[in-house]
Amino acid sequence: MKLILLFALILSTNAYAQDGDEHNNENGQEQHHKAEKHGDDHEHEGGMHGHGHEDDEDESGDSHGHGGGHGHEGGKHGDGMHGHDHEDDENGDSHGHGGGHGHEGGMHGGGHGMDNIKQYFEPLPASIIDEEKNAALIKLGKILYMDPRLSVNDKISCNSCHGLNNYGVDNEPTSPGHEGKRGGRNSPTTMNAALHIAQFWDGRASDVEAQALGPILNPVEMGMPTKGAVVQKIQAIDEYQVLFAEAFSESKYPFNYNNIGKAIGAFERTLLTPSRFDDFLNGDEDALNKSEKKGLKKFMRMGCANCHNGVAIGGNSYKKIGLVEPYETEDMGRYEVTGLESDKKVFKVPSLRNITKTAPYFHDGSVETLDEAIQLMAKHQLGRDHVGHGMVRDIKAFLGSLTGKDAE
Ligand code: HEC
Ligand code: HEC
Repeated sequence: MKLILLFALILSTNAYAQDGDEHNNENGQEQHHKAEKHGDDHEHEGGMHGHGHEDDEDESGDSHGHGGGHGHEGGKHGDGMHGHDHEDDENGDSHGHGGGHGHEGGMHGGGHGMDNIKQYFEPLPASIIDEEKNAALIKLGKILYMDPRLSVNDKISCNSCHGLNNYGVDNEPTSPGHEGKRGGRNSPTTMNAALHIAQFWDGRASDVEAQALGPILNPVEMGMPTKGAVVQKIQAIDEYQVLFAEAFSESKYPFNYNNIGKAIGAFERTLLTPSRFDDFLNGDEDALNKSEKKGLKKFMRMGCANCHNGVAIGGNSYKKIGLVEPYETEDMGRYEVTGLESDKKVFKVPSLRNITKTAPYFHDGSVETLDEAIQLMAKHQLGRDHVGHGMVRDIKAFLGSLTGKDAE
């Protein structure tokens, strides 16, 4: 089992090394690379401040006078995090935002008491790919994504493990692929994945275009023997003659392995799932109910938002699992990519969009419920051994507001 996984890893890593950089300027891909990298800016280096609030359990709603613990308030303002923040002017309640953010509270804010929310989060953009200009490419990508003929025995498509009608996952701890074989990791959702700094739990593929080329050749996923075999098989299907010609109209030889990745990647860039939380970030204060708002505050105060932040509420940094309290796992995560000692057990911080729908959790799918995931996070990432039911309930309520509205 381990050997197979290792083999798969090596194989796919190689595939990416060869293919990953092939994205030239066609179809405006370059621009999207940039867009996707912007996640970097949202790294809240601060990391760990924020835990140590022992009052998080309070059910009193708005809390005042937290000043001391919220050391990050002042610091974060004025370091560029505010670039997109002009909406502030509209909240009648935001006082003293100029310059240094004199009041540490952030929690005093007249109405909702969440002045600092935009330091952490950003609403989904309307789009990250020109869908009109790339219509033919996206159409091809979707058909490829759904097509089991991309697998060696015509049984498994991307959609088998990343169901479009199922929030981009299969709800299995690990996924049955070719001949029922399973890798060692849980299938993350393809929804909003294009926004992440990189793909896979360990970030070993640079973007969705590069990522898409891996599973097709992976012996425990779609099991195709070689790139050539994939291209040959697809090229022999009439339907694809037209689709590829349309999608790559400026190219004489539209059939090549990289173009499969380009098309699937373009389609994946359309998989954004705007949620009520986005409405909230865009100024609709009623988009979240009371317990969701309470959960949001706790999510920020407790320190969850130090890692799960930005436009995907995660997906924009790498962090160790067991940062504060060691976590038991054999998966060395990013260490297998970089070979750096400091990358042992380091994983891409997952996006929490649609998280209530994508159980089971963690890189190996070993955590069945969201309650448990929240508790484990509090303990291992923040050193909070004891979080009460109220806390878990509220945070979970907030996380529910991250579910895509279209499918809700
Ligand atoms: C047999 C199940 C299976 C199939 C088939 C499969 N995947 Fe995956 N996918 C996974 C697993 C498992 C991972 C995580 C592996 C890892 O991180 O090492 C993953 C990771 C991903 C990611 C990274 C998401 C993130 O948050 O990092 C994307 C995107 C993705 N797959 C898209 C695809 C596409 C496109 C296809 C079809 C070409 C495909 N997958 C086929 C199981 C599958
Ligand atoms: C120090 C960074 C850090 C902090 C703080 C943190 N997380 Fe995480 N979170 C991670 C990482 C890394 C993972 C992936 C762990 C793994 O799969 O091994 C993760 C995974 C998760 C998952 C599972 C996601 C999935 O798709 O399987 C949930 C849910 C989650 N975190 C919620 C929270 C909550 C709630 C808090 C606050 C109580 C929190 N996290 C605090 C880094 C962090």
